[in-house]
Order: sequence, then structure tokens, then C-alpha cells
Amino acid sequence: MAATRISSLDDPFYQSADKFFPANHNTGLTFDDITLATLYSEILPRDTQLETELADGLRLNIPVISSDMDTVTESRMAIAMALNGGLGLIHYNLPERDQLSEVSRVKHHVHGLIQDPIKVSADQYIGDVLALIEQKKFGFSTFPVVDEKGKLLGLLPGHVVKPRYAKRKVSEALQPRAQVHTITQKELGKDPIARADRFFTEHLGIHKLLVVDDKDKLCGLVTLSDVEHITQERRAQFKPARDAKFHLVCGAAVSATRNAFGELDRERILSHVGALVDRGVDVIAVSTAHGHTKGVGDTVKVLRDAFPKLPLIAGNVTSASGVEYLADCGANAIKVGQGPGSICTTRIVAGVGIPQMTALYVCSRAAAKKKVSILADGGITKSGDIVKALTLAEAVICGGMFAGCTESPGDVVEISGKIYKQYRGMGSLAAMRAGSAARYGHEKNPTQKVAAEGIEALKEACGSVDRVLAQLIGGIQSGMGYLGAANLEQLRTRARYIRVSSAGMREAAPHDVVELKTGH
Ligand code: XMP
Repeated sequence: MAATRISSLDDPFYQSADKFFPANHNTGLTFDDITLATLYSEILPRDTQLETELADGLRLNIPVISSDMDTVTESRMAIAMALNGGLGLIHYNLPERDQLSEVSRVKHHVHGLIQDPIKVSADQYIGDVLALIEQKKFGFSTFPVVDEKGKLLGLLPGHVVKPRYAKRKVSEALQPRAQVHTITQKELGKDPIARADRFFTEHLGIHKLLVVDDKDKLCGLVTLSDVEHITQERRAQFKPARDAKFHLVCGAAVSATRNAFGELDRERILSHVGALVDRGVDVIAVSTAHGHTKGVGDTVKVLRDAFPKLPLIAGNVTSASGVEYLADCGANAIKVGQGPGSICTTRIVAGVGIPQMTALYVCSRAAAKKKVSILADGGITKSGDIVKALTLAEAVICGGMFAGCTESPGDVVEISGKIYKQYRGMGSLAAMRAGSAARYGHEKNPTQKVAAEGIEALKEACGSVDRVLAQLIGGIQSGMGYLGAANLEQLRTRARYIRVSSAGMREAAPHDVVELKTGH
């Protein structure tokens, strides 16, 4: 069958990873330096499978992870990532007990049931509620009203939350308790969505159902639009990433914490990770800028000894020796990337780091020998970069791609009518002061003398994670269709590469036209 055979005429031009990268061994290559060659295909993009296994017991339905950065991943982001089949790594720039709560929020999340709804009090003015909506950029205006003990007093309907009523009190405008539709936690049962779905069908025109406990304290809210969204999602191709107990998966990052004497603080690391495990964390990432170090290695060893089955990610490295070292210490997945990040200045400040595709190739060969997986961390700006990264790695980690999403914890900034979200490197001075200094091997309270390895920046607000991931997944599936790869394993074996000239790079982007609409 001529269609399926690779012509020998292609061979000198389009080479497999094991020919291409060694042939280019003296130049560091990154995503835009290369392109992938197509292959005969019978695979439609929509039929491709994106499952990936990062460690025994840690499978994702899409190979995408949100970065452990304080302007990217807290519980909202981790919930959105897991609902889409991926994973969020909760950052560690917050008090340990707060990181535990963030993990608990993800593990207890029941999709569609908002467990801690935004509420208002009866003595507030409608003007205050309008200010809250404006400040937090809420896309809704109906709020449950509760007293100081959290007991339900009524519902403030959206149609009265208007500037003309700004001077009226919530107590004058609320729909009283007796008229509000509620259900108790017990009545919701094991499948809250199916129960709420039935309720909405039975109650024509009702869009909100409040959940109360035995003492009539508000403890949840279900909306009709969420229930409809979930019902559609149950038919979706990429299912949420869940653990064996059907909870969403969640990861948390830790650093190689040191005590006052500069020694690894084994007790503290063990007790914190133990508490994370008690909360149901699925994977721990020992996350630092330089992972090929005694501190990171010893942290991984301590955790491996104490938690033999717990999936461990460690990094970051860019060499085969780094991968081998961390694998020998007990890591299951190794983060690869030094300096490729959109907010990173490590290469400029320290003169260190390797362009990402070369680093991924070198690391992937060591990973294959050691039977660990690798995660391509940083530098991804488009879905095509992800396809290229996945020809060598089991998953990608993205910061900048998600920092502008509604679910990221970054502050919202408005400039000339445009909305942006704050995005900063964990090695920026501001982030290091907030706690991430250990990641860069510095003291907890760095002075101005410490060289920052990241910048503070803004990302244009880009809507929900669902929307961003839909674009990225569509791109990954297209790439796989072009290579005739039905799954990620086949993508890795079928990839063939060629270098791109700078003119070739210009040719790859829209050119010589007046652009009216981007592809998004
Ligand atoms: P992207 O390109 O997705 O990169 O925005 C996110 C990744 O960048 C790393 N990171 C840093 N690297 N200085 C660095 O050199 C920093 O301040 C910094 N902060 C984050 C990290 O690996 C992240 O996942």
C-alpha cells in the first residue's frame, strides 16, 4: 500500500527524533525552530484520544497541567482543569494551612453544586451589591441573603439589582425565605445533579435552587444553567479527571523547605505533605528552579520513603543526568524547563537554561530508560507548541496560557477599558517576598540584592478555562490528525522533524493580509 509507506525520498528531510536531535546536537532548539512533517492518515482529529499516564495511579484525560504559580493555580483553576480532564498544581506561596484548604476545596467539589455561594446581608444597600459585582466582575446578580450566622433569609433577585434602586436596602427588595425554593443536603442525595435536574423540570421558570442544612443554614446553590452544562458534559469526549472515589484530581507543589540552620526541614515537609495526603491530594510536585540538587533529591527521597505509592513530580531539569538523578531518588514525573517561561528571566539573569525542544529530547531519552514520564514546563504560547512538546513529553505545564482566565487568582486590572489579569514569575521579587524564594535557592525575605529571575506582567483577560482549553485541545487533535496518530503514544512514535528558517517562521504566521479576525 503506497499510501501508508514512507518514501525514502522523505528520509533525508523529515527525520525521527533519534536522528533529528542528535544531528542538531550543537544548537539549542525550541518550538518555533522546528516543524512537524505530516504522514498518511486515516485518523480524524475528533476521534483522537488524549489520555496520558503520569505515574501509576495518576491518569489524566487531557495532557495539560496548570502551573504551580500564585497567579495561575488555586482551587478555582484546579477545579476547572480537572473538570476538563487535566490537572492543576496548587502553588505554595501561601500559608500551609491555606494550601490544605485549597486542596480540600478541589477534592470536595461537586460539579454544579456551588458549595460556598456568594451571599449578601439584609442591611446592605443595593448600591453595595452593585459595587461588589463591579469589583469582582461577577457575571451574575442574584444572591442568597443570610444573617450573621449564615441562616437563609431570602433571595435577592437579579431584576432588582439596578442602579435606580441603589439607595434601597436588600431587606426591602429580597424575596422572603418562605418563597425561596430550597432543598436539604440529605434530599440532594448521592447524585445532586440528577436530583436538581428533576427539580428544575418540575418547577417551570425556576433557575436557582438553594441548599440548606437542618438548621436552615445556607450550604449550597445549584443553577439551571450549570445543570444543563453538566448534562451536556456527561456526553463530552473528554471526561473530568477523577480519583477512585470519583473526586476531582488535584496536585500541590512544595519546596525543599529548610530550617533556621539551613538544613532540609524533613519534619516540616513530612507533616505538611502528610496533611495534604489526608486531604486527598493526588500528586505532590517538588517544584524548584534547579531540580538537579541535593535539596530536591533529598526531599523526593524523604517523601518516597514515607509515601511509597504517592505520585511525585520533581524538577526542574534540562539534562539527562538531572532526570536520572530525580528518577533514582523516587520521582515518577520530571518537570523539564529552565528559562523558557513567558515571565522568566533565568537565561538573561543567570545565563543558564536550554531551549525547550532540545531539553525535552535529551530528557525524554533518559526518562524512557528510567521508566518515568516528563512534563514540558514553560514557553507554550500556542496549541502547535503543545503538539510539538507532546512528541517528546507525556504532558505540558502552562502558566501564561491560563493566567488571563477568569479562574486564575491574579488581580484584575482595567487599562483604557480593557481588562487584564496580573501574572508574575515565581522568581519575581514580589512573588519571592510572598514566599517563593526557596524555589530559587534564596532566603525567605530576599533583599534588593537578590537577582530576580522573573518579571511581573499582565495578561489580557481571556474568559474561562473551558474556552481556552477547547481551543488548545482542538489544536492538539488537529496536529494528531495530520500525523495519523490516534493517541499520544502514536504521536510520539510518528513524529518527524525539520528545522525552520526565519523566513519559514514568517511564512507560518498570517502574512501579507489585513487581519480581521484571529482564529479564536
Ligand atoms: P509559561 O511560559 O507557561 O511558563 O508562562 C510557566 C513556567 O515558568 C516557570 N516559572 C519561572 N521561571 N522565573 C523563571 O525562570 C520565574 O520567575 C518563573 N516563574 C515560573 C515555571 O516552570 C512555570 O510553570
